[in-house]
Amino acid sequence: MVEIPDRMIAIDPAAPGGPEVLVPVERPVPVPGEGELLIRVEAAGVNRPDVMQRLGLYPPPPGAPSVPGLEVAGAIAGGPRDGERVCALVAGGGYAEYCVAPEGQCLPVPSGFSMAEAAALPETFFTVWTNLFQLGRAKAGDIVLVHGGTSGIGTTAILLGRAFGLTVIVTAGSPEKCAAAVEIGAAHAIDYKAQDFAEEVKRITGGRGVAAVLDMVGGDYVARNLACLAEEGRHVSIAMQRGPMAEVPLWQVMAKRLTLTGSTLRARPAAFKAALADELREKVWPLLEGGMIRPAIDSTFPLKAAAAAHERMESGNHIGKIVLTI
Ligand SMILES: NC(=O)c1ccc[n+]([C@@H]2O[C@H](COP(=O)([O-])OP(=O)(O)OC[C@H]3O[C@@H](n4cnc5c(N)ncnc54)[C@H](OP(=O)(O)O)[C@@H]3O)[C@@H](O)[C@H]2O)c1
Repeated sequence: MVEIPDRMIAIDPAAPGGPEVLVPVERPVPVPGEGELLIRVEAAGVNRPDVMQRLGLYPPPPGAPSVPGLEVAGAIAGGPRDGERVCALVAGGGYAEYCVAPEGQCLPVPSGFSMAEAAALPETFFTVWTNLFQLGRAKAGDIVLVHGGTSGIGTTAILLGRAFGLTVIVTAGSPEKCAAAVEIGAAHAIDYKAQDFAEEVKRITGGRGVAAVLDMVGGDYVARNLACLAEEGRHVSIAMQRGPMAEVPLWQVMAKRLTLTGSTLRARPAAFKAALADELREKVWPLLEGGMIRPAIDSTFPLKAAAAAHERMESGNHIGKIVLTI
């Protein structure tokens, strides 16, 4: 058993700001409570919500650490499972040498996966599973529309969608990103800067529309998304990058009997996340173990270069996940 130190290096900005606030500092190693495990972090995923948190626009929920980072991979440190390789969904604390995770939110590192690949899984896999498959009720044979096709979330939706028999149409903001999305497995990629995505969806689906839209854009996209939905279609909101308010054409909702729903993962109780982890373990982990799904990794940065990782994300040039390594 390797000795656990008292202090560790972490990224824990003193105040909101630009990427430059992400400097390494010394912090006490967190102590796991009842039902929690301490993980010696080897890699931590970077997600858009971390950028929002850094800017002071997405404060950690009560009880969560101020250290950013919603997903980690590493070895369990101490206790009966010492040394076991896991990846975990956490409510914060990932950008550090040690991180505490609820045991129910830890999943095995799939065989053949690097720690960076494993750290790229939890946040987007939990989010896409609960939003696209549970709330969005997507099932084999469905055509779905996913915005942000080359984002961490979008690439995961493509991979999971394809693995579960969906036809995934995505939008992305350049021809290069569209090509990358198709390479990852999207059936169609619409360059939303060059084409009206609603018109394209209509054309691609022969006027029938899609069964579900996974929407991270919000604002004026909502009405256009509803126009893309088939009868009984589901509109699932997971972010609102073009604004939190939307005008909803109620006639569309009534005429097509649409469902508008959405969720935010971080604030959900541990019991919900553990149930989600169980479902992923059963339905998705065998596909990872079998090598049928591998996350799309854009780039990795050492923990001390977290600022550069955020700059990369904010440049909008990334395709897939950005990961910090320790
Ligand atoms: N609800 C939840 O539980 C939950 C959990 C995790 C993440 N999220 C949200 O999901 C989103 C994606 O997260 P991520 O970590 O995957 O981020 P990311 O990789 O940075 O992706 C952001 C994506 O948004 C697209 N985008 C940005 N502005 C846009 C606009 N005005 N119109 C259309 N597309 C736009 C970008 O695509 P282009 O460059 O092609 O424009 C990019 O692909 C974030 O908004 C995040 O907050 C929600």
